[in-house]
Amino acid sequence: MTEDLIAAATAVRLNAYTPYSRFKVGAALRSTSGHVHVGCNVENVAYPEGTCAEAGAIAAMVAGGDDRIAEIVVIADSPTPVPPCGGCRQKIAEFASPDVLVTLCTTDGERLQLTVADLLPGAFGADHMDRA
Ligand code: THU
Repeated sequence: MTEDLIAAATAVRLNAYTPYSRFKVGAALRSTSGHVHVGCNVENVAYPEGTCAEAGAIAAMVAGGDDRIAEIVVIADSPTPVPPCGGCRQKIAEFASPDVLVTLCTTDGERLQLTVADLLPGAFGADHMDRA
């Protein structure tokens, strides 16, 4: 099942808009409804305004009417499987259970499979605001 997500992330990565970093990233996720949603990084001349591939895939999922991630894949042309940035770990955790699989890939075929809890142990969640 992960293979279809790797193929989708590989394909969408080519559409990344990266004139500043030249570092293209693709992400694909399957929502719990079974739909596949994809995203790529989209940079901006005002650098902090750029968005990551994972954020794009999550935005596509929400726009498509889904709100839970069943599995997610990220791919880049990096020496080792590309790790999501800190902000993306929190964004993924918003929509995925701790045991959801995250597959990190290189375009050379290297893969590293982790869980959301591995990526963001002790995640801040809505339950921490229960007394508010
Ligand atoms: N980037 C992602 O899209 N996802 C990641 O997991 C790591 C970094 C992007 C952001 C920026 O466009 C470029 O990679 C270099 O940081």
